[in-house]
Amino acid sequence: MRDGAPQTIYRKDYQVPDFLVDDVHLSFDIHPGQTRVKSRLQLRRQGAADAALKLDGIGLELESLAIDGEPLTDDAFQVVDEQLIVFKVPDTFELSVEVVIQPEANTSLEGLYKSRTMYCTQCEAEGFRKITYFPDRPDVLAVYTVEVIADQQQCPVLLSNGNLLETKTLADGRHRAVWHDPYPKPSYLFALVAGDLALVEDSYTTVSGREVALRIWVEEKDRHYCDHAMASLKHSMRWDEEVYGLEYDLDLFNIVAVDDFNMGAMENKSLNIFNTSCVLAAPDITTDMGYQRVEAIVAHEYFHNYSGNRVTCRDWFQLSLKEGFTVFRDAEFSADMNSRGVKRVEDVTFLRTHQFAEDAGPMAHPVRPDSFIEISNFYTLTVYEKGAEVVRMLHTLLGADAFHQGATLYFSRHDGQAATCDDFVTAMEDASGRDLTQFRRWYEQAGTPRITVSGKYDSEQQRYSLSIHQENPDSAGQTNKPPLLIPIAVGLIVDGQPLPLSEDNSTQVLELTEREQTFTFDNVPAEPVPSLLRGFSAPVRVMNEPGETELLTLMRGDDDDFVRWDSAQTLLAQLIESEAASIDEDLLDACRAVLNSPDMDAAMKAHTLRLPSEDYLADRAALKGLVDVHRIHHARNRVKAMLAAALAPEWKAAFDDNVVNGPYQPKGAQIGQRALRHLALDYLCSGDAEAVSLASKLYFDADNLTDRLSGARLVVNLGTQAERETLLAHFHDQWSSQNLVMNQWLSLQATRPAEDCVEAVRVLREHPVFDWRNPNKLRSLIGAFAAGNTIAFHRADGAGYALLAETVAHIQADNPQIAARMLSPLTRWRRYAQGQKLMRNELERIANLDNLSRDVFEVVSRSLAEV
Ligand code: TRP
Ligand code: ZN
Repeated sequence: MRDGAPQTIYRKDYQVPDFLVDDVHLSFDIHPGQTRVKSRLQLRRQGAADAALKLDGIGLELESLAIDGEPLTDDAFQVVDEQLIVFKVPDTFELSVEVVIQPEANTSLEGLYKSRTMYCTQCEAEGFRKITYFPDRPDVLAVYTVEVIADQQQCPVLLSNGNLLETKTLADGRHRAVWHDPYPKPSYLFALVAGDLALVEDSYTTVSGREVALRIWVEEKDRHYCDHAMASLKHSMRWDEEVYGLEYDLDLFNIVAVDDFNMGAMENKSLNIFNTSCVLAAPDITTDMGYQRVEAIVAHEYFHNYSGNRVTCRDWFQLSLKEGFTVFRDAEFSADMNSRGVKRVEDVTFLRTHQFAEDAGPMAHPVRPDSFIEISNFYTLTVYEKGAEVVRMLHTLLGADAFHQGATLYFSRHDGQAATCDDFVTAMEDASGRDLTQFRRWYEQAGTPRITVSGKYDSEQQRYSLSIHQENPDSAGQTNKPPLLIPIAVGLIVDGQPLPLSEDNSTQVLELTEREQTFTFDNVPAEPVPSLLRGFSAPVRVMNEPGETELLTLMRGDDDDFVRWDSAQTLLAQLIESEAASIDEDLLDACRAVLNSPDMDAAMKAHTLRLPSEDYLADRAALKGLVDVHRIHHARNRVKAMLAAALAPEWKAAFDDNVVNGPYQPKGAQIGQRALRHLALDYLCSGDAEAVSLASKLYFDADNLTDRLSGARLVVNLGTQAERETLLAHFHDQWSSQNLVMNQWLSLQATRPAEDCVEAVRVLREHPVFDWRNPNKLRSLIGAFAAGNTIAFHRADGAGYALLAETVAHIQADNPQIAARMLSPLTRWRRYAQGQKLMRNELERIANLDNLSRDVFEVVSRSLAEV
């Protein structure tokens, strides 16, 4: 165990900073092995007259320290732990600090580090303190001027935030650039890049006619893979003008692609830094899903320019203020760019499968957490995805017009400030005139609310009444939670048709505020089937599922995309859970109707008829008791084989009819056709071993990664060992020069559902393609194995758990953020019968490591804590 338990930080302890920084001058002198960072900070006292100056700093070699030009004597300051304390300082002064750091030795990928050939930074959340001493908290906003000096040959490109003020050639083959960002910003938005980068340039004219230079910087070999990101950026800029009235505020916007990156991308002011996997795109290196991800992430980071940068967070407990809102914004953007119904179904699937599980496990926390040990552990599905659902509920409750007035008020009222989640809700209240006191509980209460519904029809009165009960289950540190305000969008299906509930609207939004409440509908001509939670209007579980007859009615006759899809998925889940020996003819007919529907697009057909994932089934099972993942796996496969056989001619037709003609395009119609064709092939292969040859043909004939991977996955999972090995060798030889494709090659093998996959992954960890220091490689091999391979990960002898634990132990000191994240499949040990001992043992082994990082300490200790 580590020495001295790390400190917990509480939201209730928030205090305004004692000192503010108005202006920052930074100078970086980059030399291999040693980078000198000089800073000049203009500080101003805000707190008590006798308060000492305390600055954050980690791993810095302090060279000099002066106040208003006077060097400080040794007794005037102290360097403790992760702080620099200067005992007595004036009320306003200039602090000069000089430190030396070693980016080359920085494996945490936080602060200034080296990724392959380039120097880059990652400062969110608390990485700036690894660069220099500073009040590294988001409520200290300063104007930055940054000088970068480096070798001209090694680092011809020198970038930082804002505008380029000057460049100069220096002696000894060195050069210098000075950048100035006029917008005050917190330190977490600072960025610097120095390296040998190729430029892809375009421009954008804003709504008011200003021209903005758009620059994407990548390694020379990747210069041809930037078109999609560039187009996505321009679409995002237009969309934010049209939908939120927000125009870009500088003359330059940069994106830099780096290969070693802990997350997807980072919204540093005017200098976004991206994981290569989230920006580069081409048909041979990117799947259809990958294209959509690039579009969404480019948009997400761009939208942060307002929701995050112009208005930032007061403290890290408010993280969802920027992340939840920005995820909502990027989801609406993607819905407008592509298919709204499909986007919603994809997001809900993700939320219900992964966020619900998080909210039911040991890491459960409110959208606005009350405490943390390490903030990096709180970049969670709850803060991002549930946070976005909370914003979406405001949109639903207030209506689009009032919501947008609220957003506009929020942006203007808090421009240039560090705000709170409460400020956001207050702006929504002020714009709409509504009291949102009860709604605020969504930010406070962890756990997924459960609702139970019962309907009663009075044929004499032609009245239907719907009683809804809500329950908010206890979670760590929270019991007896009061009821939430839950918007429940409903429709009524009468005789198979949606009943108009108002002028040309078949949906009504009920506002559930009590624990138990009854809503009545008049003029209902016959007993309806209620269509609940349309569009997934709230992140809740509906506990009492309708029966098969009702679900079939909804699947066939509902006019809400989400409910139609959800009813089909529930029917399929119930079928798997029942372990029935045959499939009802009615359900088969309904599936045929989906396949033959002239109105439903192919992507939606594929989503509707794909079996619920093992993870989703596990989440459902966890409500009833311990989860038996092997049983789920086999029951699901049996239903797949039954559906494959029963609908064999239909799958064959879907496979044959959905051949895409013409060149590859990552666009709606084609994406849908490929998704449906691949699903059909998946069924064909599980019904008939011969069909694997079709998969092999799909792989070998493919002119794009989506087809190639779909074919490959089926051959790897279902083919003979010889077929598998031939294909994998071919794949490797053809794409070994493409790093991102090799990540897929690793995942393909890591997710093969067979027990001996544990040993295969062990071997792959030693393969030259793998790299212990690269987060994408760790995620593609070990992350994919632990999260996407139930059979091997949950092997009865515990070898899968050991493999994960051992990998985490190996990397945890070098890259604590990634280690803590990768640990998450083990933290759910309480859900599984075999988890009680084997998974727990591995967690305890990690808890007992020497020099355990703060990140991993927090995750293991929360997960092992008694409930
Ligand atoms: N703010 C980033 C986003 O848009 C998240 C992020 C990027 C991040 N890199 C990080 C968070 C490193 C913590 C650590 O979502
Ligand atoms: Zn974000």
